[in-house]
Amino acid sequence: MEGSKRQYVDQTRQSAPAGLIIRQKEPANLEMPFDQVDSYLTPTELFYIRSHFPVPRIDAADYQLRIDGAVRNPLALSYKELREMRSATRIATLECAGNGRVFLVPQVRGAQWELGAVGNAEWTGVPLQALLERGGLEDDACEVVLEGADRGMPTEEPKPPCPISYARSVPRDKAVQPEVLIAYQMNGRDLSCDHGYPVRAIVPGHYGMASVKWLTRIQAVREPFQGYWQTSDYGYWDSPDGKPVRRALGEMKLKSAIARPRVYETLLPNQTYTIFGAAWAGETEVTEIAVSTDGGQTWAEAHFLDSARPHAWRRWKFDWLTPRKPDQYTLLARAKDANGTVQSDEHDWNYGSYVITHLLPIDVLVEDPVRPER
Ligand code: MTE
Repeated sequence: MEGSKRQYVDQTRQSAPAGLIIRQKEPANLEMPFDQVDSYLTPTELFYIRSHFPVPRIDAADYQLRIDGAVRNPLALSYKELREMRSATRIATLECAGNGRVFLVPQVRGAQWELGAVGNAEWTGVPLQALLERGGLEDDACEVVLEGADRGMPTEEPKPPCPISYARSVPRDKAVQPEVLIAYQMNGRDLSCDHGYPVRAIVPGHYGMASVKWLTRIQAVREPFQGYWQTSDYGYWDSPDGKPVRRALGEMKLKSAIARPRVYETLLPNQTYTIFGAAWAGETEVTEIAVSTDGGQTWAEAHFLDSARPHAWRRWKFDWLTPRKPDQYTLLARAKDANGTVQSDEHDWNYGSYVITHLLPIDVLVEDPVRPER
C-alpha cells in the first residue's frame, strides 16, 4: 500500500501533484498538505492561498501603480513601465500569521489552518527601494502603506463602517531594504490571479499579511498607519512598561514544523523512518534543529538539507529507529536561531490566534500493520 511504503522510501520520494485543502471556498483560502513538502521551492500549484476578499480581476493593459503621499514626485507606473525597470529575484518563505491555528487549545475562531499555510518561493520584481527613490521619499515618512485592489467588509468584529480595501504598512526601515520587492513573477512565471496578478508586494521575513497582493498604491505616510489589518486584525499585545499596548504583527518568529510523519500516521516498529520538516525565522537564521521522539524528554540533532539563506526556510531530516514496543509516540521538532533563541513550549496568548510558533506535537502510532477482516 502507498501509505506504508512511504515509510521506507522517504528521501527518494518524488513530488506528485497533490492539490490543496479547502479551508474556505470563497474567498479562496487553501492550504498546502504539509506532508507533501519535498522540494526547496514550493511549486506554485501547491502554494497556500490566503485571501480576505474575492480576487479582483485586473487587466495588465489598464494597470496603474500609484506612488504618492510623503514623496516629492508622486508618480504612476503602468505594468509595462514596471517590467522595464531593473528587476531582482529573491527566494522568500511566506507564512500566514495564523498557520498552525488548529493546534491551539482551547480552539479559537478563524480559518483552522494545519501546518501548510506556508511556502517557499522565488519572487521577481522591482525593489520597493527603487520606486521610493524615484518618488523621492520625504525624510519624515515613517511608514509605507501598501494597498490592494480587493475590497469588502471584514467578517470579524469590530467591523469598519463601510467596505475597505486590503492595506498594510511596512516600517520605513524595512521598506527600503533591498529584499522588499514589488513582484510580478513567482517561481519564474507571471503571478497567478490568486497570488496577486499582476503585481504584489513581497516583504521577506514578515508574516504573509504584509505581502499585499493586487497592489495598486504605495503611499508614504508621516504618522503610523492605523488601518483595520494592523489594528483590529493582525495585531498583538505588547507590554513595554507593564501597560499593554496594541501593535501590528510584523517579523516572522522562529518556527520548525514536522511534515512527515503526519498526525496519527502508523509506522512499523524497529525500522528507520526519516522524520522530515522545515524551519524558518524572520530576519535571522535557523542554526539548529533538535528532534524528540518521546514527547520532549530527550532530544537529538537533526540534519539540514539546505544551507542558511536570509528569509528562506531550511528543510531538515532526522533518521529515527522506531521503537520495538508498539505504542503511541509524540514527536517534536525544536529550532534554534543565530541569536540563541529557541522555540518555546507554550503558545504566547498575547498573540491571540496568531504567531503559533510553540512546539507542535505530532503523535504517531508504532505498530505492526493490522489487516481489516473481510
Ligand atoms: N493582499 C491582499 N490584497 N488581500 C489579501 O487578502 N492576504 C494576505 C497577503 N496579501 C491578502 C493580501 C495574507 S493574510 C497572506 S498570508 C498572504 O497574502 C498570502 O499570500 P498568498 O495567497 O499568495 O499565499
